Amino acid sequence: MYWSLITGMALAGAVTALPRLDSRQGNGQVKYAGVNIAGFDFGCATNGNCNITAAYPPLQSLGGPDGAGQMQHFARDDGMNMLGGTLDQTNTGKYDQLVQACLATGAYCVIDIHNYARWDNQIIGQGGPSNEQFVSLWTQLASKYASQQKIVFGIMNEPHDVPDINKWADTVQAVVTAIRGVAKSQMILIPGNDWTSAQQFPTKSGPALLKVKNPDGSTDGLIFDVHKYLDSDNSGTHTECVTDNISSAFSPLADWLRANKRQAINSETGGGNTASCQKYLCQQIQFLNQNSDVYLGYIGWSAGAFDPRTYELSEVPSRNGNSWTDSSLVKACLARKAS
Ligand SMILES: *[C@@H]1O[C@H](CO)[C@@H](O)[C@H](O)[C@H]1NC(C)=O
Ligand SMILES: *[C@@H]1O[C@H](CO)[C@@H](O)[C@H](O)[C@H]1NC(C)=O
Repeated sequence: MYWSLITGMALAGAVTALPRLDSRQGNGQVKYAGVNIAGFDFGCATNGNCNITAAYPPLQSLGGPDGAGQMQHFARDDGMNMLGGTLDQTNTGKYDQLVQACLATGAYCVIDIHNYARWDNQIIGQGGPSNEQFVSLWTQLASKYASQQKIVFGIMNEPHDVPDINKWADTVQAVVTAIRGVAKSQMILIPGNDWTSAQQFPTKSGPALLKVKNPDGSTDGLIFDVHKYLDSDNSGTHTECVTDNISSAFSPLADWLRANKRQAINSETGGGNTASCQKYLCQQIQFLNQNSDVYLGYIGWSAGAFDPRTYELSEVPSRNGNSWTDSSLVKACLARKAS
């Protein structure tokens, strides 16, 4: 989303074998489903300026909302198995509490650096922080979580207006090589330009990013990371949805992924808790499920530290004693079982 307030942790669940569908491919259900748990990213703007004191950890132990309880609910009651958490770089000790709470659910947990490929208006490896600095950050994170097979490394949230896509591919390659130096097999999410637009990926970023490989020359575990919102300007800031973006984005991307023998994950999607978003988001997720050979999963945006009374795209469940009630959109489209 084109928003300044972002932090994720995502959850995903067991694959259920469903009958093969006629015209599509895969087993009828994506492997991973979950919701982002935002809060540590709050305060980082899309130009890479971050106000660290605005981070709002979604942890009761740190004075915030009960993100740990939310994750338990999503995993237990909704059958989700991948949760995403956005990272504030100076608060890694606190962030680790969120990661551990995520791992405790049994879900896969995505660590997502939420800086739009920038720091203070300048792009990593292209005038801003050096590739070496970015590699150092990722080496530290990968080393910390090297033994956790359910940690997923999301290299960067929504790069945008990156002038040279080949240089960006070099930056991503340097990070992949560094992560694989310590973490051999965990999934790594590979982000393109254009706010990781699913629509632009096949023509704009994909050709350059296809060259990113593991040190052994394979592409095992290297998953393309795409986003797609459904509102009128594709920004993920409105409560009404106008499209499922299947014909414009997810269908052509599926063809491209198949042709190149690769997979992608839709790590941010969502909408308002409205009838129009229910219609279009459910259609979009159905399409991902029907093409589960190339789409590995989806992660909704967003639960965590958002205030459900004011945030347009809230997926924050409400708690009453020991039971949780989902937002209407999560209940209708994102949950994999009735809670
Ligand atoms: C940074 O965030 C804090 C907490 O939200 C706020 O009080 C402060 O005004 C912000 N500072 C700037 C420079 O925006
Ligand atoms: C999504 O659909 C809208 C409406 O048809 C279109 O304007 C937009 O370009 C599409 N975006 C993507 C990324 O597919």
